[in-house]
Amino acid sequence: ATYGEGDPTDNAAEFYQMISDQDLDLTNLNYCVFGLGNSTYEHYNSTGRFVNKRLLELGGNRILPLGEGDDDSTLDNDIIEWKEQLWPKVCTLFGLDGSDQDINMRQYNLEELEDPDMSKVFTGEVTRLNSYLAEKQRPPYEPKNPFMSHMLVNRELHKGGDRNCMHIEFDITDSRIRYDAGDHVAVYPCNDQKLVEDLCVLLDKKPDTVFRLTAIDSYASKKSPFPCPTTYRTALTYYVDITSCPKMHVLKEFLPYTHSEEDKTKLELMTKTTMEGKAAYQEYVVKNFRTVNHILQDLPSCRPPLDYLLELLPRLQVRYYSISSSSKAHATTVHVTAVVLQYETPTGRVNKGVATNWLLPQVPSDDKHYSVPLFVRKSQFRLPIKSEVPIIMIGPGTGIAPFRGFLQERDVAAKKGATVGKTVLYFGCRRKAEDYLYQEELESYVASGLLTVSARESRGD
Ligand SMILES: Cc1cc2nc3c(=O)[nH]c(=O)nc-3n(C[C@H](O)[C@H](O)[C@H](O)COP(=O)(O)OP(=O)(O)OC[C@H]3O[C@@H](n4cnc5c(N)ncnc54)[C@H](O)[C@@H]3O)c2cc1C
Ligand SMILES: Cc1cc2nc3c(=O)[nH]c(=O)nc-3n(C[C@H](O)[C@H](O)[C@H](O)COP(=O)(O)O)c2cc1C
Repeated sequence: ATYGEGDPTDNAAEFYQMISDQDLDLTNLNYCVFGLGNSTYEHYNSTGRFVNKRLLELGGNRILPLGEGDDDSTLDNDIIEWKEQLWPKVCTLFGLDGSDQDINMRQYNLEELEDPDMSKVFTGEVTRLNSYLAEKQRPPYEPKNPFMSHMLVNRELHKGGDRNCMHIEFDITDSRIRYDAGDHVAVYPCNDQKLVEDLCVLLDKKPDTVFRLTAIDSYASKKSPFPCPTTYRTALTYYVDITSCPKMHVLKEFLPYTHSEEDKTKLELMTKTTMEGKAAYQEYVVKNFRTVNHILQDLPSCRPPLDYLLELLPRLQVRYYSISSSSKAHATTVHVTAVVLQYETPTGRVNKGVATNWLLPQVPSDDKHYSVPLFVRKSQFRLPIKSEVPIIMIGPGTGIAPFRGFLQERDVAAKKGATVGKTVLYFGCRRKAEDYLYQEELESYVASGLLTVSARESRGD
C-alpha cells in the first residue's frame, strides 16, 4: 500500500529500500503486484507501481499485470477481479489442478473450555497476556505493546449544534514515549457492548463462554486469529471489526448456513462476481452501510456459527489521531482533537463510529478513571526546523489538530526569545458560534502577535 506522500507502509520500508538500493539478481523470481492506494492522492499507488517496475528491472518474471485497488471507489471489486486472473496463472505455473472446489475454507478449529483457568484467559490484550496491568507494563511501547494511558481530560469543544468534538489529554508520564508536533497517536478502541451482545443473541452463544481457535494446519504462521483462549465477548469487543460492511467473500461463506430460499437467493446474487452481483452487493451492503449485525437481522435464516464469523471478520484496527499538542509545551501529555462520528443509514439505523463513541462517555473525574491503550507513530509532517521560516497552515475542522501542536511549539520558541516567522492559519467550520475549535487559544496567539488567523464559516447566516 502507499502511505504518506507516495511512501511505502512502515512494515514495507526495509523491503522497499532493499530493492531500490541493491542490484539484486531476481531471475528466478515469479511475481505479481497488487497495489493499494487512493486515486485522490497525488502519488496514486506509487509504491505498487514502483515495486512492479523494479522487480522486472532486477530480472523477475512478471506473471500478471499490475493490479491496482482504489480506496476512493471499488477497492474490493478491484482485488476480486485481479484474483480471478491470478489463481489460474499460479496453478499453471505450479502444474496444479485449479478446478477442485471442495476445499475446506476453515482455517481454525474451535474448542470451548468447560473449566478454564481464568488467569490464562485474554481480556483484550493485543499480544501479551496481562500486559495491560500497571505492574506488567514495559516500554518500549509500540503496536504490539501499547501503553495503558490514563485519560486526564475529555472536554467538549463544540459550543452548540448536534455534533460533538472532544479535546482529550492522555498522560504519558514515565512511559518513555517521546513525540514531535505532527506525529500521530494510535488508539486501540472497543466495540459497543450492545452490538456485541446483540450479535451473541443472533448467533445463539453465551458471551462469556471461554473458547480457543487453533490453526488446523500445524505449519500455519498464525496459530490463532487473535489471542486465545478468550471469551466471545472479549473477541467481539476487542479483536474483530463488527461495524464495517462485511466483504463479499465473507458473505459467500454465510451461504451454507442460510436456510430460506429468499435469503439464499439474495446472498447468492450479491456474492457473484458478475456485474449484476457486484451491483447487488453495492446496493444491499455498501449503499445501506449494513454491518454484520444488520445483515443477520435482515436475513433471519442466515446464521453462521459465531466462531466461523470470528475467523472471517478482519481484526479491529487502531484509530490514528494527529497529536494536537507539542511536547515542548506538554512533555507528559498527548492531546487529541476528535470529532464524534454518527450517521443515519438509508435503512433508518444509526451507525456510530467505534473509537469516537467509545471515547465520548469516558469523562474522567475524581471518582471515574479511564485508561486507553495507545502508541505514538512518527510522521513526516513537520514544522520547518528554523522558527524564522514563515508558514501557512490550512486546517478546517479537526484538520486544525496538528497545527495546534505547531502553534504551541512556535509559542514556546517565541517566549524563549527566538525569531518566529509569519504564522498564518486558515480555519474552516460550520458556524463560528458552534464549532470554532480552540477559538480562545487562537485569539490569545493573535493577541500576542504570534498568529494571523482567518476563520470562515460554511453554514453561517
Ligand atoms: C493519520 C490520521 C490522522 C487522523 N487524525 C484525526 C484527528 O486529528 N481527529 C479526528 O477526529 N480524526 C482523525 N483521523 C480519523 C480517525 O482515525 C478515525 O477514522 C475517526 O475518528 C473515526 O473513527 P471511529 O472509530 O469513530 O469511526 P469508524 O467506526 O472507523 O467509522 C468510520 C467509517 O464510517 C463510515 N462513515 C463515516 N462517515 C460516514 C457518513 N457520513 N456516512 C456513511 N458512512 C460514513 C466510513 O466508512 C468510515 O470509514 C485521522 C486519521 C488518520 C489516518
Ligand atoms: C496518511 C495516509 C496517506 C496516504 N497516502 C497515499 C498516497 O500517497 N497515494 C495513494 O495512492 N494512497 C494513499 N493513501 C491511501 C491508502 O493507500 C489506501 O487507503 C489503502 O487502501 C490503504 O491500505 P491498508 O488499509 O491495507 O493499509 C494514504 C492513506 C493514508 C491514511
